[in-house]
Amino acid sequence: MNSSPSSRRCLTVVLAAGEGTRMRSSRPKVLHAIGGRSLLAHVLATVGEAGGTSAVVIGPGRDDVAAAVRATAPDASVFVQAERRGTAHAVLAARAAIEPGCDDLLVVFADTPLVRPQTLTRLRMALADGNAVAVLGFRPADRSGYGRLITAGARLLAIREEKDAGEAEKAITLCNAGLMALRGDVALAILDRIGDDNAKHEFYLTDAVAVARKMGFEAVVLEAEEDEVRGVNTQGQLAEAEAVLQRRLRAAALDAGVTMVAPETVHLSADTRLAADVTIEPYVVFGPGVSIEAGATIRSFSHLEGAQVGAGAIVGPYARLRPGAQLAERVHVGNFVEVKASEIGVGSKANHLAYIGDSSIGAGANIGAGTITCNYDGIHKHKTDIGDGAFIGSNSSLVAPVKIGAGAYVGSGSVITTDVPADALAIGRGRQVVKEGFGARLRKGKSDAKKTPAP
Ligand code: UD1
Ligand code: MG
Repeated sequence: MNSSPSSRRCLTVVLAAGEGTRMRSSRPKVLHAIGGRSLLAHVLATVGEAGGTSAVVIGPGRDDVAAAVRATAPDASVFVQAERRGTAHAVLAARAAIEPGCDDLLVVFADTPLVRPQTLTRLRMALADGNAVAVLGFRPADRSGYGRLITAGARLLAIREEKDAGEAEKAITLCNAGLMALRGDVALAILDRIGDDNAKHEFYLTDAVAVARKMGFEAVVLEAEEDEVRGVNTQGQLAEAEAVLQRRLRAAALDAGVTMVAPETVHLSADTRLAADVTIEPYVVFGPGVSIEAGATIRSFSHLEGAQVGAGAIVGPYARLRPGAQLAERVHVGNFVEVKASEIGVGSKANHLAYIGDSSIGAGANIGAGTITCNYDGIHKHKTDIGDGAFIGSNSSLVAPVKIGAGAYVGSGSVITTDVPADALAIGRGRQVVKEGFGARLRKGKSDAKKTPAP
């Protein structure tokens, strides 16, 4: 037998059917997210890294889950489990993918998102070592809900679901993580022999162990850390999985040369890209799709999603970068500034209280405090174009579509409704009127009126 997993053909069946009723949510369990990415997408990414082909089993009518599979793993085949009759029944929904044959059949759960690719490889190695079934076990702090692994020395004899376990079996600390590898040439024979004689009248994948042993095959358990294999059945477990993922992402960022003085307060997404020498101050949230180039600083209480930040830029404190915000090198975006679907050129600054939406701003421009791009007329969004070196005075409204030429000035408090040529000055506000002595006359008139007794 060849013991190198890379030369063995592998099929991974990802189980993603089932409503996840204990989540108490209208969203299917596997589309709940950690690190801004669905549980299903995490598992598909891991399976993709481990290699081989994959088949995903989804529930009936779950177009949303099917779409999520296509988006993350376009090569995966999708099967529908018409009725939810247990994990073995779910694997057999992918029979058409299993029948052509493979060396290793891996079964993974879409509700177990933190597994690493090398752990899948470890399971496959156990098959290469002559076992027909290899199961991943762990010792959770709270065993409730998990199947218990019944062993004799290194041998795995059976898995008992909690609902079917007696008191002595419930006391077993080694639990089933849910992941399993089956020898491809006997997998269907094993799966087809699994019955539904149990408390839930379901076809349990876990029974593959006892069935395989009855057929004269060996089964083995490999241990993993709880943080890698914790399953998500409740909102509480979802939050725990998120915490584990966040610790991993922060550790990877620190290893890559990112400075974070309070990493435990920084919330990252699975796809956050932070270059070396980026500084993240405490309490920053990164939604999906953010990349930050070298030497940039993200100051406290900023919220970023779908944004690119150039080298040496400074963002925040209290800045909001929304999808499509593209900041070039050395841009400064300060407190209470919101940027959406806008490019800001090299060295430009918007330091205080501004909304920049659907805009293109050149290099070296200055956007004064309180500047608003009025991009929405209630029906359509319109573009604002601001040229290199333009200076927008404070508290101006730029009513889009509008262009401010390079080097132009906009006077403070202007409402700009027509284009401003390059190097021009535009002032769009009521002219100031000064009335000498008016205040004194007004006060005198009022105090005289007070002294005169009413008739
Ligand atoms: C399962 C295991 C249990 C293990 C635990 C680890 C079984 C019978 N039990 O229990 O031993 O300790 O995982 O987290 O395997 N699914 C389907 N179709 C079905 C049923 C389930 O696709 O008919 C999918 C679910 O979407 C989920 C996965 O299979 O992704 C596991 O199902 P779940 O109901 O969460 O099983 P657990 O009770 O967690
Ligand atoms: Mg589960």
